[in-house]
Amino acid sequence: MDKLKSLDDLKNLREEARKTTTTRQSTENLIIVGMGTCGISAGARDVMNTILEELNKRDLSDVNVTQTGCIGMCEKEVLVDVKLKGKERVSYGRVTPQDVSRIIANHVINGQIVEDLVVGKPES
Ligand code: FES
Repeated sequence: MDKLKSLDDLKNLREEARKTTTTRQSTENLIIVGMGTCGISAGARDVMNTILEELNKRDLSDVNVTQTGCIGMCEKEVLVDVKLKGKERVSYGRVTPQDVSRIIANHVINGQIVEDLVVGKPES
């Protein structure tokens, strides 16, 4: 990378990075699990493992799973966000391992949001 010599160089670099990130995000199917302290104490590891097992069982290799940290909604943990290619991001709350197959079957496979678990629809 060339040295940054001005504020404009920095702005251009930021803009390029933003475009790359936006492109990558919009072409991925993504499941994000809240793995902050409260998420883990609410059972996020079990939820994460169940998601990975379920995707594997159903051979859904085009869905990426990632984790995030604290987002300030302790009481709604375990939080699981689903962001499918070209669709709005949906946040599910108080997710248990028993909810996972419903989220995968209804939302990830059939595109039907599991309304009773929704806690928000953040900007993607
Ligand atoms: S520790 Fe719970 S949301 Fe941050």
